[in-house]
Amino acid sequence: MALSWQTLHNLEKEYGDSFFILDLRQFENNYKEFLQGFRSIYPNTNLGYSYKTNYIPKLCQTVHSMGGYAEVVSQMEYDLAIAIGVPPTRIIFNGPLKQQEDMEKAILAGSIVNLDCLEEVEMVEALAERLPEQKIAVGLRCNFEIDTTRISRFGFDVAGGELDRAFKRLTALNNGSVDGLHCHISTAARSTESFARRTQKIIELTDHYFKDKQPRYIDIGGGFYGKMTDDLKSQFEGYIPNYQEYAEAVASQVKSKYPDNSGPELIIEPGVAIVSDVLNFVAKVVGLKTVRSRQIALVVGSIHNVKPTGTDKILSLRVYGNDENSARRKLAGKVDIVGYTCMEHDCLYKEYSGEIGIGDYAVVENMGAYTVVFKPPFIRPNPPIISYDSIQNEYTLIRRGETSQDVFSTYVI
Ligand SMILES: Cc1ncc(COP(=O)(O)O)c(C=O)c1O
Repeated sequence: MALSWQTLHNLEKEYGDSFFILDLRQFENNYKEFLQGFRSIYPNTNLGYSYKTNYIPKLCQTVHSMGGYAEVVSQMEYDLAIAIGVPPTRIIFNGPLKQQEDMEKAILAGSIVNLDCLEEVEMVEALAERLPEQKIAVGLRCNFEIDTTRISRFGFDVAGGELDRAFKRLTALNNGSVDGLHCHISTAARSTESFARRTQKIIELTDHYFKDKQPRYIDIGGGFYGKMTDDLKSQFEGYIPNYQEYAEAVASQVKSKYPDNSGPELIIEPGVAIVSDVLNFVAKVVGLKTVRSRQIALVVGSIHNVKPTGTDKILSLRVYGNDENSARRKLAGKVDIVGYTCMEHDCLYKEYSGEIGIGDYAVVENMGAYTVVFKPPFIRPNPPIISYDSIQNEYTLIRRGETSQDVFSTYVI
């Protein structure tokens, strides 16, 4: 996204002094490139985009128009998928909390529903008994050890026999079946070796449980690294694989298991990997002060806009200066760029080195994952989102800024 102070200033006049800019074409390119890597090795691969990572409807619609699944983990996200025209059969319903009614509707409508716990197995048993003529098919999320740093809470424990119990109970139903196995391992280990191990494990489990009939799908989940600047890369331990390297780690194993292209559908569920580099956050510089040895620039944004998950990574930030007004008040040297909240920790960037002046714009890059979906309306309502089309060179509003009324509309006043 080629930005300049003038472009940002024009956008400010139209949309206000802080906003997100979404690069939809970049998202489309990421989606195609990621999926193509897998399909070039194992053609029967499909992508389910993780809505919770960033559910801006324009992104979700783009996924749908390119043939992807909606991967949702709540009824709220399920409702969004339906609202933008995704048919239930193109929705994957995951996550640890599915209300009975929601889960039943999704199963009956033909969505892929991956169960997470025995309580959900019980709900499926109750449904199967209530509707004996109806075929009830679900998937199971598997929990196996990939790295030893933490014991995951999600899915059925393989080693302890829970997966086995769930599988047997479901296949014992006259009208029940297990269609596929799912795993999503959320760990700092996003290496290709880790993905190769996940794939190997899920293939082993598939071999064990689907002796007579091959599963409809194998779902390997998400958890891949996305594209990032060298600065950001250097803050992670180990090598950051690219899309093709992930595809080789996963799809080649599925291909060797099912060489003749009639194998199960391979599903991948990236969020971060395809969305993180498609959103920038822009905040105008509105105040400067020096307090003893500390230089401070106040922007119309907050740590909650850019790091709502509390990541300790140093984000990539650029300041677009208004060089036409060289007389503007400025600071130079090490400047802390702080936000509008009343919290001391609200610092978007510590010790920025360079000039920064009133009326400049601070642009934080790589904001696509867990920003707009995570930020509460703490102190200020949420800013607008503008979509940028790099082919047409056009900016369009895709979410207006929230108003005070929006924030308080659900309270009894
Ligand atoms: C079930 C499931 N699939 C996919 C994802 C996407 O993960 P990521 O954004 O790390 O690719 C998540 C995120 O936690 C998830 O829980």
